Amino acid sequence: MMQADQSKMFADSEGDRWFERNQACLERCDLARDLPLRMMELYQIKPESVLEVGASNGCRLAAISERYSARTVAVEPSKAAIRDGEQRFPSVKFVQTTADRIDLDETFDLIIVHFVLHWVDRSRLFRTFAELDRLLSGGGHLIIGDFKPDRPLCVGYHHLPEGQAFTYKQDYAASFLASGLYRQVGMLTANHADQRLMAEVDPNDRIAVWLLQKQLAGVHEVAGFSG
Ligand SMILES: C[S@@+](CC[C@H](N)C(=O)[O-])C[C@H]1O[C@@H](n2cnc3c(N)ncnc32)[C@H](O)[C@@H]1O
Repeated sequence: MMQADQSKMFADSEGDRWFERNQACLERCDLARDLPLRMMELYQIKPESVLEVGASNGCRLAAISERYSARTVAVEPSKAAIRDGEQRFPSVKFVQTTADRIDLDETFDLIIVHFVLHWVDRSRLFRTFAELDRLLSGGGHLIIGDFKPDRPLCVGYHHLPEGQAFTYKQDYAASFLASGLYRQVGMLTANHADQRLMAEVDPNDRIAVWLLQKQLAGVHEVAGFSG
């Protein structure tokens, strides 16, 4: 079976289906346990502008807007999630698209991409990284949350017939760190089932949230002249 482009699949239908399945859960979501928000508190990140990519209905961004008086923009492919968010969270601006092609020109102090990269179609992963980097200001912070197995894993997406879509579990922060343009400020590991912070977690159930900082200047040691 020919595998479809799964970013397109999320834009066309799966994004709406995910939102419909999880809407009730988002409504009762406990922001006190939210890992990106906890990371912001722990490291005293107080942004003036925040972009969340794959933000669903923007409930996390609404909390950020209220706490930090920050300008908040949500990128999300699901029309259903955006419709809900626009009604409930007027402080959040929504852009309907996928992470690899974001029609925005401004840059942000903080970008959050939480539990999204594992669904990005592999043919669009580097374009997605480039978009996140393009939209983040120098000195700005990037929060990435995702699964963190011991080695990269590809798992069938159980809401679709076998072979149609996959969840790609890997260390996404490593790609940014390898560029030499980002430094790791912090990392939290937790249990996927209940998001509880834990040092020892079964690797197949382990998730992580990374706080990275983009450093356009100052990452390289000055070593004199080269000819
Ligand atoms: C597991 S949910 C996480 C939602 C939210 N980030 C959170 O932490 O609760 C993944 C979200 O990413 C969206 N998504 C899926 N593929 C995407 C893509 N290629 N670009 C941007 N968002 C995507 C889905 O529609 C969904 O809202």
